[in-house]
Formats: sequence, structure tokens, C-alpha cells
Amino acid sequence: MISPSPQKYFSTPEYKSMQAFGEVFIDTLPKHVRNLKIPGRVISDDNRRQPVLAQITQVSELQNAMHDVLDHPITQEAQLNSEYAFQALLQKPSVDPSVLSFFNGWNETHKTTSLVSAKIIMRLSADAISTTEKLICYHHVLAHMHEVARDDFGLGHPGHDGMYSYMTTAFGATAWVEDQYKIHECNEFSEFLYNTGVAEHKSALDSPEHKQSILDAMMVSIASELWNGREYNFIAQYIEEKLISLNPSLKTNVKILRNAKGYVMGHFGEVENKHGLHALAAAQAYARVANIDFKIGRLKGIMLNYNERVGNAFAAMHRALKAQAK
Ligand SMILES: [Fe+2]
Ligand SMILES: [Fe+2]
Repeated sequence: MISPSPQKYFSTPEYKSMQAFGEVFIDTLPKHVRNLKIPGRVISDDNRRQPVLAQITQVSELQNAMHDVLDHPITQEAQLNSEYAFQALLQKPSVDPSVLSFFNGWNETHKTTSLVSAKIIMRLSADAISTTEKLICYHHVLAHMHEVARDDFGLGHPGHDGMYSYMTTAFGATAWVEDQYKIHECNEFSEFLYNTGVAEHKSALDSPEHKQSILDAMMVSIASELWNGREYNFIAQYIEEKLISLNPSLKTNVKILRNAKGYVMGHFGEVENKHGLHALAAAQAYARVANIDFKIGRLKGIMLNYNERVGNAFAAMHRALKAQAK
């Protein structure tokens, strides 16, 4: 276990830790929940479907559970490992092979949306035709899951893959895609996400195994999005300065700088927390449709398990960056 200690790079008071970002979000959870909506949609020139308010219940219990998860030693250690990895990246004066490994690993950890949320969307869309009851509730589940995934895939704007390459190009680190830069722990993490997304997909639609597998995957999606809310807000504080230090000409090239930091800034602010809340609304709506319990205790366990796994991946990225520094 790593004991928290102030780090030189992050000790300036105007910068926030992942923990601080998490606390602000959880403290304001009731307000975020009240405002969460499936956006409206223009149907025709004179017809518009109004936004639909999310129905999230047990808010104060969820708030307590999220505090417990955030303060748990597993999460504390995972956050420290992530902050150390980012710190090591920021302290690199130039790109060496360990930076390429970092970018390979970081990309690998962020596949949750495609490996979990998008697989859930695929499965639910295929199953909709076999669902005869409560179709409207089922549609709410799908609409919330769409809100989880749409920013990452991009509709009318570059999705993840496009933005990631703008950033790595600005770092001069495009070779990260090569197999030699893979980090085992990060690939192991994305394998876990893949397995979660496809678990029990062949089981009977009404079987308890099938229903629980969908709900568990949605809980992983909640865990992931809320983790991302802390991770990206943390690195967003430093990314512009780092990019300019590597390439001072970016300072005067607004468009290239915007693209270069776009991957991080696209996840900044409330973006990821909102994805997490949509995943939460989807999971509770699915539990109602499928007539199974939404257990907060199970969500806590899944969130801790996710945090431990993502923390292990970041610890490996940190080790890679430090090994090269010696
Ligand atoms: Fe993302
Ligand atoms: Fe997200």
C-alpha cells in the first residue's frame, strides 16, 4: 500500500486531487440527479419530443455508497497510482519508449465504452424485438445508454480514436500503437472489460444469469464513467502546459493546440460524471424492466473491483515510466 504524501508537482493549492474532484461530485449528486434528462428530439418541423427526466431512486443511499467507495483504501491507492503515473508523464522532458508504453496502456484502459457500454447497447437493441412487455421502459434504458456512449464514439465530431491521435501526434508519440509498447496489466484490464460486456450473451433472455450479466455490465459502466470523471479532470489541469512545453509553437497555433488537448478536454468538467449518471439511470431502469433488484451493495463491490483493476493498470504505467527514468 502506498501512503498518501504530498508531491512536489501537485502540491500547489490551485490544483485539485482526484479525491477532491470525487468529493465535489458526490456532494452535489442530488442536484445532478434532479437535472438529468434524456434530451428532447425534433420529430418534424412542428413536432418535438420533450426531454424525459431520469428516474434515479435511493439517492442518499447512493451518495453514502459512493463516499464509502471513494474513501476506501482500494480507491485511495488506485488514485495515487494514477496521479503518480500522470506526474511521471508530465515530468518527462521528451518522448522516450516509456512514454510510448504509457500512451499504449492509457488507450487500453479507456476502452470501457466500446467494450462494455456499446456491447450492452448492441445486446439490448437485438433483444428489443423479443421483449413484448414494458417496451417504453426498455427504450428509456437504451436512450440512457446512448447518452453514456455517444460522446466517445462521436456523431458529427471526431470520436475517441481521432482525438487520441491528435494528442499523441502533438507529443511526437505516434509509435505508441506498435505491439512492443503494450503493457500487460493494461491489456489484462481491457480483457476484463470485454469479458464483462459479452458475459452470458447466449443465455436465455429471461434467465437470471442473462439479466444479472446486463446489470453487472451497466454497474461496471457506472464505475468506469465516475472514475473517468476524476481521472480526466485531474490531467486536464496540466495538459495544455505540458503540450506547450514540448512544442512552444502550439502557443500561437490555436487550432492545433485545441485539437491536441481535445482528447483530454473532451472528457473534462461534468462530461464523464454525466455519463456515469446516465449509466446509473439505465441500470435502475433496466432492473425495473427485468424485475430484478438493483442492489447498492453489489454496485459498491463492482465499483471497488473496477477501481482496483484500473489502479493496477496505472501502477504498471507508472512503473514503466519510472523504469525508463533510471
Ligand atoms: Fe471517453
Ligand atoms: Fe464517458
